[in-house]
Amino acid sequence: MKVVILKDAAEVAKYGADIFIKQIKRKPDSVLGLATGSTPVALYKELISAYQSGRVSFKNVSSFNLDEYLGLTGTHPQSYRYFMSQQLFDHIDIEKSQTAVPPGDAEDPFSACEQYEHNIKQKGGIDIQLLGIGRNGHIGFNEPSSSLMSRTRVKTLTRATIDDNARFFGPDEYQPHLSITMGIGTILESKKVVLLATGANKAEAIKATVEGPLTAACPASALQMHEHVVLVIDEAAASQLADVDFYKHIEMENQKLLERLGRD
Ligand code: GLP
Repeated sequence: MKVVILKDAAEVAKYGADIFIKQIKRKPDSVLGLATGSTPVALYKELISAYQSGRVSFKNVSSFNLDEYLGLTGTHPQSYRYFMSQQLFDHIDIEKSQTAVPPGDAEDPFSACEQYEHNIKQKGGIDIQLLGIGRNGHIGFNEPSSSLMSRTRVKTLTRATIDDNARFFGPDEYQPHLSITMGIGTILESKKVVLLATGANKAEAIKATVEGPLTAACPASALQMHEHVVLVIDEAAASQLADVDFYKHIEMENQKLLERLGRD
């Protein structure tokens, strides 16, 4: 696993955004896998300013979001579709028709999940998947005990996740306890994965992801099996790793090698 440890959340957002910008420049019709939560917001801001300054265009890009609350329509302010419009889609030149978020209001959520998988395949798969991570190691809404081979499906949220996300809902507002999420197997099929984590409250999950055993108890640990995964984290999220200096040393050596070969 490539672990890049940076000073703070701002550096994490810049580094992560650069990976996406380079990807889109290399392949203007890239299929992006996108994520919600508070962590990617700063990265989306970087993408918006790169678009505004003419560094990148999303005209031919398409996207699939990881997950959505089951029971919310896309116009609900707490829905992930709404979040994506507010935080990214409304501010860039992506074709809205080319952006997919699992339908939280599907009449038949089970066939909607199958359709979502089908649509990803039809596009030729996801080129690069952005991930955050839950405090319990969840990715998307794949909570601990999720099958490591799972596909897009309906998932029940843990109490911990409901509590963590309660901050986004008003005191009397209905908060869903079910979701539709890409499976861990779906995520592992994307060609590249970029996971962002910032803050000390993610340190335990990051330790389990990088240095723990491969286990459904920490869904993100499944990324140990992925060929091209990079974890972009800040010092606080890295604080429980056994050998921070070693990860930094590897990254320095990688950079030197890439410079020598003239690659980015
Ligand atoms: C939600 C999302 C995840 C996200 C997680 C962490 O549960 N389904 O995709 O990674 O929250 O969010 P945050 O970045 O706000 O800590």
